[in-house]
Amino acid sequence: MTQTQAQAQKILVTGATGTVGHQVVVELLARGHAVRALTRDPAKADLPAGVEVVQGDLTEPDSLIPALDGVTGLHLITFGGPYFAPLEAGPRILQLARAAGVRRVTVLHGGGPSLLEDAVRADDGVDWTVLMPVEFMANALEWTEGILTSGEVREPFVSRLSAMVHEGDIGAVAAVALTEEGHGGQEYVITGPELLTVADKVTTIADARGREISLVELTEEQAVEQWRAAGHPEDVIGFLLEAYGNTPEVGRTVVDTVEKITGRPARTFGQWAAEHAGAFKAQ
Ligand SMILES: NC(=O)c1ccc[n+]([C@@H]2O[C@H](COP(=O)([O-])OP(=O)(O)OC[C@H]3O[C@@H](n4cnc5c(N)ncnc54)[C@H](OP(=O)(O)O)[C@@H]3O)[C@@H](O)[C@H]2O)c1
Repeated sequence: MTQTQAQAQKILVTGATGTVGHQVVVELLARGHAVRALTRDPAKADLPAGVEVVQGDLTEPDSLIPALDGVTGLHLITFGGPYFAPLEAGPRILQLARAAGVRRVTVLHGGGPSLLEDAVRADDGVDWTVLMPVEFMANALEWTEGILTSGEVREPFVSRLSAMVHEGDIGAVAAVALTEEGHGGQEYVITGPELLTVADKVTTIADARGREISLVELTEEQAVEQWRAAGHPEDVIGFLLEAYGNTPEVGRTVVDTVEKITGRPARTFGQWAAEHAGAFKAQ
């Protein structure tokens, strides 16, 4: 038996069909662990081979009881519906996890108050780690439609700086914290390796797809109009204006968490763009 097999653990990943959760799954599998993935609809879940897919709904915590059976670690999201509605049932989820014998918990911080996150932080019966990523590189996928239809990205605040992070690196930090000693009671801010403006990102995507992209700077009013047309509720629009127009220091400061925790340098936006170049090219 290899060392990896001897240490293999079974982890329950919630949000496993989402941007970050999928990467938590991938990184756990790559480290030789067994993964159980929670989804509200197993028929729609597109997860790697070998993953045990189970049905459950975080807004109905008792639906998690079978899913928690036999797992040593649990990755949690803090929301349970459209537009990241905070989970009210958070404390019950944690209670069930403890009763099932879960030893390590990671929580993907949602940027706002969370009963679930509060319950996790207050629990000294599990080794918890709060993952605090800055802007995801995957957010650039929102530009695919504009790029494919008119060769344009239309954004406000194009000179804003972001330390945005590859979602695979969030997954990698989570995988380590869920399976190795030494990460209990920690909050990890997770960033990429460089600061980029919107203009830098657009140039990087243009290079990756081999075709120019025009960047059209919107006024705040035009941006609000665009977000309303996309169906975003007013509170989300307010959040976006604040996050983009007045990015907090943490969102524009590079830290070395990825390298410290995983032993590998954080992935660049150039790497991300190369991986996703196909999404920005006409079929
Ligand atoms: N985008 C950013 O730049 C950024 C930066 C920092 C932090 N964040 C935070 O990251 C989080 C979003 O993560 P993400 O982008 O990975 O999410 P996502 O891609 O939108 O995925 C949503 C996931 O949540 C699951 N889900 C939703 N409601 C559920 C429920 N009631 N029961 C069980 N599962 C449920 C979905 O599972 P099923 O549909 O399969 O059931 C899906 O896997 C938010 O908290 C956000 O604040 C985002």
